[in-house]
Amino acid sequence: SDSPRALSGIQPTAGSFHLGNYLGAIRQYVALQETHDAFYMVVDLHAITVPQDPVELRANTRLAAAQLLAAGLDPERCTLFIQSHVPEHAQLGWVMNCMTGFGEASRMTQFKDKSAKQGADRATVGLFTYPILQVADILLYQADAVPVGEDQRQHIELTRDLAERFNTRYGPTFTIPAPHIVREVAKIYDLQDPSAKMSKSAASPKGLVNLLDDPKVSAKKFRSAVTDTDTVIRYDEKEKPGVSNLLTIHSALTGTGIPELEERYEGKGYGALKTDLADIFVEWVTPFHERTREYLGDPETLDSVLAKGAEKARAVAAETLAAAYDRLGL
Ligand code: ADP
Ligand code: NA
Repeated sequence: SDSPRALSGIQPTAGSFHLGNYLGAIRQYVALQETHDAFYMVVDLHAITVPQDPVELRANTRLAAAQLLAAGLDPERCTLFIQSHVPEHAQLGWVMNCMTGFGEASRMTQFKDKSAKQGADRATVGLFTYPILQVADILLYQADAVPVGEDQRQHIELTRDLAERFNTRYGPTFTIPAPHIVREVAKIYDLQDPSAKMSKSAASPKGLVNLLDDPKVSAKKFRSAVTDTDTVIRYDEKEKPGVSNLLTIHSALTGTGIPELEERYEGKGYGALKTDLADIFVEWVTPFHERTREYLGDPETLDSVLAKGAEKARAVAAETLAAAYDRLGL
């Protein structure tokens, strides 16, 4: 195909995706399948960088795939697969480990954050090198665009550096990818702590909106979101991070511009915005639940989508790996 390539991966570990994952990443996956030859994977090899229960991991991996389909990925328009079904990821991952400086890997801030949460002795070498596996994930598909949230920008920079290094040393082998980050939704914040990004490892579960939670529970989280002591509804990331985050989410879910929202809520209190947003979210998420249940309830279809996806992915990945091995003298 002549279309540019897109590649992204998402971890299966939390069971449910959260609203930050959806707005920051998954929505862009859905959009890019129209313009790109798009490859999306559930990254179970990344999941095992921290301890996993095998039964739970397998179930969560399927659940992640079902949610991606429910969110709008169409197997006719993109290639959806499970990372461990394509062995070339681990193989090129090793090659990329051998291309990366130890100091260079040590500068990855996501590792610092994640290992701090694990405790220094518990953090594995796999967690340390996971950004390098991510480099291989991207380069295997000769991806032009990598849809991600802001927190992943540094890893795409590393990918570009390593691709250039390899190409310079061994001859042109890899496409240099660029991050595809949609600024407006690149960082969705925690509803209780609008200085922190919404994350599955949130300090308080009240700040984290999981897509598969009971919609009533999520609605309550929106209604009790932390704002500020002022009353004016205005987008101002510095002075009003809580309100700005709610406006961002509202705008993303309804397609209404932020200036229009500011006008609509002029003279109204924060309560009106929060209640409306709770309703908007519930209306959006209810059919998402239904579609997720449908995909989970039809394991044969899900298996077949993932098997076909792995086959298509493998054809591309194997060609790239063979070229890289050849260049290396392997
Ligand atoms: P988490 O940060 O909760 O561990 P992941 O690391 O699995 O989530 O992220 C999966 C994708 O979702 C990545 O592309 C990441 O950039 C994006 N993402 C995660 N959290 C957010 C957020 N709060 N806002 C925007 N995008 C996010
Ligand atoms: Na496509």
